Amino acid sequence: MDDAAKLSLNGQEYSLPVVVGSENEVGVDISRLRGESGAITLDSGYANTGSCTSSITFIDGEKGILRYRGYPIEQLAEKARFPEVAYLLIYGELPNAAQLEGFRQALTYHSMIHEDMKKFFEGFRHNAHPMAILSAMVTSMSSYYPETDEDDEDLNIVRLLAKTKTIAAYAYKKAIGQPFVYPQNSLSYCANFLNMMFSVPAEPYEVDPILEDALNVLLILHADHEQNCSTSTVRMVGSSQANLYASISAGICALWGPLHGGANQKVIEMLSMIQADGGDIDKYVNKAKDKDDPFRLFGFGHRVYKNFDPRATILRKAATSVLDRLGVDDPTLDIARQLEEIALKDEYFVERNLYPNVDFYSGIIYRAMGIPTDMFTVMFALGRLPGWIGHWKELRQDPKGRINRPRQIYTGAVERDFVPLDQRG
Ligand code: ACO
Repeated sequence: MDDAAKLSLNGQEYSLPVVVGSENEVGVDISRLRGESGAITLDSGYANTGSCTSSITFIDGEKGILRYRGYPIEQLAEKARFPEVAYLLIYGELPNAAQLEGFRQALTYHSMIHEDMKKFFEGFRHNAHPMAILSAMVTSMSSYYPETDEDDEDLNIVRLLAKTKTIAAYAYKKAIGQPFVYPQNSLSYCANFLNMMFSVPAEPYEVDPILEDALNVLLILHADHEQNCSTSTVRMVGSSQANLYASISAGICALWGPLHGGANQKVIEMLSMIQADGGDIDKYVNKAKDKDDPFRLFGFGHRVYKNFDPRATILRKAATSVLDRLGVDDPTLDIARQLEEIALKDEYFVERNLYPNVDFYSGIIYRAMGIPTDMFTVMFALGRLPGWIGHWKELRQDPKGRINRPRQIYTGAVERDFVPLDQRG
């Protein structure tokens, strides 16, 4: 591999250092280009731009590979529990037994939110989107648990992981007008969340291990995905040295959009719409293919995976098993299966490598688990927390860290004189 690339511009040649990653990915370092030539690179949507070096997650979109800190996602999904994956992503190594026990205990004992924070929930409308509540509550945590010195960092990381699931469950209880259910110290991370979501004081509730295991896998699969839209947002905000809560809250907002984490909600809404419209799947497949029609099949396609998404492969199997084990009979889910079958054979989708993505199957499983549709993106956020935190921590520890500040190519009006109001046409 050459150690420099050559760029010729206006008759002048520039030498650009080549950076090679541990999996042999190649980057051309253009950080000195503007200073030397006055030119910048332009890459709308950042599809070819590396914004940082990172040792957290490796993806090979062509080969369908996803690894957290070197460990294949397939092994983690099969063998690990979410707290140890969170530890791995944040601290770089799998915890030993004592470290895991300490981390689990900390996650358990920090699950309650300050009683005063509960009052915030009274201010939200009953039908507020839970992502609006989640992002606002996570930002407000910075006023209760400020970062006064570096020693607070680990404690705040634990608080964030532990309390966000409580906030998420409270957002749901608020929406349906039921009393908040406090976290239980005897329950695991996933079981605790399900208990806060689904138990009511009037009746005993026991967490179904099928749901607990399904949630564990879903959270692990969503835990990190390198420099996606929300993680880049966390890094962007964190680069100004904004605190952990503010940076993560920004990531939650970025995740909300339907082209990113909001897609899982859109998948179910789309399936319900197809069902309400008589279940004519071909009609919607044709609409998605029609360039004059803005309709897209939510849950299909991915910016990075152009062959297959390894998370979708795992969830496809999990969806069948969870639905069968729970004995769910849901016409919306039948439509999902038919849609998947038709689209996987259709030339338009095959040619463009458009496969069902992780959100297609996660939406189906969450629905079967009884999670309401507008909570799906919140579930994604709970899973993604460790990844966001890991990236925020990595950025903080980078000795060469600078505030993120992209450039632009200006295409607006050139200089002109101000026109007084009475002279404007
Ligand atoms: N339905 C129909 N056509 C599609 C779809 C879709 N879901 N996705 C892409 N295409 C088509 C595009 O029209 C384009 O066709 P063309 O080459 O004829 O112009 C081609 O496939 C490439 O699509 P792009 O939009 O250029 O791909 P990009 O990488 O920019 O977008 C994205 C990826 C945003 C995920 C896109 O596939 C999409 O909008 N999918 C639906 C939303 C979704 O499911 N998002 C979740 C992503 S996964 C996640 O966030 C965890």
